[in-house]
Amino acid sequence: MGKVKGMSESVGVAPIVDMRNISKAFGAVQALRDVDLRLYPGEILGLVGDNSAGKSTLMKIMTGAYHRDSGEILVAGGVTNFRSPHESRAVGIEMIYQDFALCGNMDVGQNIFLGRWPVKGWFVDRKKMYAEADEVLKRLKVDVNSVHQRVESLSGGRQQSVAIARAISFDPRVIILDEPTANLSVMATQRLLETMLELKKHGVAQIIISHRLQDIFAVGDRVMVLKRGENVGERVIKNTTEHEVLQIIVSGVKGKNGKGPPAPAVKAKVKPAAKRVAKK
Ligand SMILES: Nc1ncnc2c1ncn2[C@@H]1O[C@H](COP(=O)(O)OP(=O)(O)O)[C@@H](O)[C@H]1O
Ligand SMILES: [Mg+2]
Repeated sequence: MGKVKGMSESVGVAPIVDMRNISKAFGAVQALRDVDLRLYPGEILGLVGDNSAGKSTLMKIMTGAYHRDSGEILVAGGVTNFRSPHESRAVGIEMIYQDFALCGNMDVGQNIFLGRWPVKGWFVDRKKMYAEADEVLKRLKVDVNSVHQRVESLSGGRQQSVAIARAISFDPRVIILDEPTANLSVMATQRLLETMLELKKHGVAQIIISHRLQDIFAVGDRVMVLKRGENVGERVIKNTTEHEVLQIIVSGVKGKNGKGPPAPAVKAKVKPAAKRVAKK
């Protein structure tokens, strides 16, 4: 396969996910234009940008929930064409959605194994299901009181934990968290960030989409900025500042992988540019 020379060659580690020149339009809206994204094993990548920048779309294209118009995606070096998240799950990619996508009227154990309850003969093997659910939660150091609790009775933070436990029970190599801390308390956010670091220790690569740069700076290795569907910058966390990343979010201009011209200085008190009209 015609390999493009990239960072993988220079650091000697192959990306687990390599998205190249991804474009996607919804009718007249060009949601993504020629976007590249590389994710390395055990890495935490922050994905940031204004509302409608294309972050969720890019992630849904990675999982097969949306289909790209052009570009290619390699997972562990092999070209993929996922038709659904079911197919990307099979190779170890899990996405946790902002609304968690759980069944509130079912309990924790049932949710973790939703759609694949273990059976014994004709019946659900409840003992096995709850024992395994308990194990996943312990492994995550998640303190949900009981695997028998109904999910709707849990706080937002604990529901988040259940969604993560469910993702982890598939033993993924890649986890995508879309705005995971948006509705969490300070404590729950802290727990989530600790869970991410725990997963990192186990070599799981993670992408976190967040408006909260402090979260990304707390756990991230690298940050990538999308703006109006384009890559406008990429930085190694330890070589940058929240201020610089904010500047790129607000004023970034296209330049692949952050190699474009430096972002111009921004005056203090920047408002999100949600209403800005797409440039032509
Ligand atoms: N299913 C969809 N149908 C139509 N337009 C969509 C759909 N999903 C996303 N878009 C559009 O694509 C653009 C990028 O959206 P999105 O990826 O959700 O941005 P972000 O997650 O960065 O806020 C937006 O203009 C949005 O309205
Ligand atoms: Mg989004």
